[in-house]
Parts: sequence; structure tokens; C-alpha cells
Amino acid sequence: MKKVLKISLKKNKSKIICLTAYSKNIASIIDKHCDIILVGDSLGSVLYNFSSTKKVTLDMMIEHSKSVRMGIKKSLMVVDMPYNTYRNSKEALKNAKKIISKTKCDAVKLEGGKKVLQIIKTLTKNKIPVMGHLGLLPQSATNFKFKGKKITERKIILRDSKLLEEAGVFSIVLECVESSLTKEITKIVRVPTIGIGASAHCDGQVLVTDDLIGLNEINARFVKKYLNIKKHINDAVLKFKQDVTKAKFPSKKHSY
Ligand code: KIV
Repeated sequence: MKKVLKISLKKNKSKIICLTAYSKNIASIIDKHCDIILVGDSLGSVLYNFSSTKKVTLDMMIEHSKSVRMGIKKSLMVVDMPYNTYRNSKEALKNAKKIISKTKCDAVKLEGGKKVLQIIKTLTKNKIPVMGHLGLLPQSATNFKFKGKKITERKIILRDSKLLEEAGVFSIVLECVESSLTKEITKIVRVPTIGIGASAHCDGQVLVTDDLIGLNEINARFVKKYLNIKKHINDAVLKFKQDVTKAKFPSKKHSY
């Protein structure tokens, strides 16, 4: 709970840094720079080539999260509840408890507004910290266009932000939300907003680490590629191949 409170207190003070991790090795590198590490169900498309996150299972999330847990020393660890694991309050509570007990994560994230309100209330009443997710909702999306162009859509997202706050979420991810709407939501709600494709008006930002380092091929406007890690891996593997071919590796130093 202390870690969650620390995130809440960042609102209007300093930006919240959030990134995804699906394994211990990545988590241990990003941990020192992050406030939140999210084991996102984006792992379905990023690692398993699934056409949607709907195919991600609870067991997949738990196994990846166990690995991530080993790499985290200080960040708040949030785990996505996958599709069809929170269809009603009873199911959500059972599965959230399972995720927390098996992975030792600090919080769970689930997608949606009014529809999942009762579910969120049940989790928060049971002292399970919940991160909300509004805007583009990959688990139920029929298209991947940004949200908040139409007045009706804007009203629903704004209403849902207030409802999620009332239900007790400690933060809200805004995915692909139009800039002026993001600004309004961030001003109105007291919990931090964390954006992905939702402008700099948010209280924090989240990206998929594999996108940021250029490991995952993605062509989305909201992604900034900070590194071409594929080139570094390629260069290292090529060097290894050359050394083996020329019998330069292993040298005496690497032999017994
Ligand atoms: O699944 C995920 O990685 C996410 C983030 C992109 C917010 O939900």
C-alpha cells in the first residue's frame, strides 16, 4: 500500500514513469528508472504473435509475472488481468487474489468504465489496488482508432474517469485518447492519469518496452523508438559467428 500511495502523491508534483516488462532480465534493467512496471497483456501480441490480447490466459500472465517479480527491487508492480478473467465480481476477486498470491505483485489492472465499476469496487473493498484503463481498450476493441473525436465518446470517457476514481482506482491508464480530453480528465480526477498515445497532459507515461528499444516491430504514431536493439543483437551474434568460424572463440581464457 505504501508504494501505491507514493504513486498517488506524485499527482501534480512529478511525472510518473511506467514501462512494461515480461521477464526478469528486462525488469531488472528498467526498475531503477521506473515508478511502475506493468506486466501487460500486450505480451500476447508482442511475444506470441496473437492477433488480439483476448487469447492471453491467466496462467501466461502469472508465469511471466513470476519472472518479472524477480527483477524488481523498487517499482510498483502491476499485472494486467486478462480477457474473460473478470466477467463478474466473484470471478474477478478470485482471479485477482490468485494473481497477487502467485506473483506477489502490488496491484492489478483491468480495462473498462461503467461496465466494470462493480467489479472494481469489489476489488478495492477487498484491499486490492486497482489501476483503471480507459480510451482504447484492446481486450474489447473493434477498431484501433484514437478515442475522443466524437462528443458522445468524449462524454462517456469523461464520465467513466470520474466513476473509476469513485470506485477507488489508484491511477488510470488513458490509451489513445485525444489530447484536449486527456487534459480535461487529468485536471478533473484526483488520481494520476498515465498515458499511452494520450499526449503529454497526463500525469505519467507508459510504453511497451519492446517497442521503445526497437525489439518489437510496430508502426504506431504514439511509439518513439529510443534504440535499435535489433542491430546491437545482430552485430554481437555476427561477431560470435565469425569468432567461432575462425576458431577464435573459445580462447584459453574461456576454456578449462
Ligand atoms: O498491455 C499493455 O501493455 C498495456 C499498456 C500498453 C498500457 O495495457
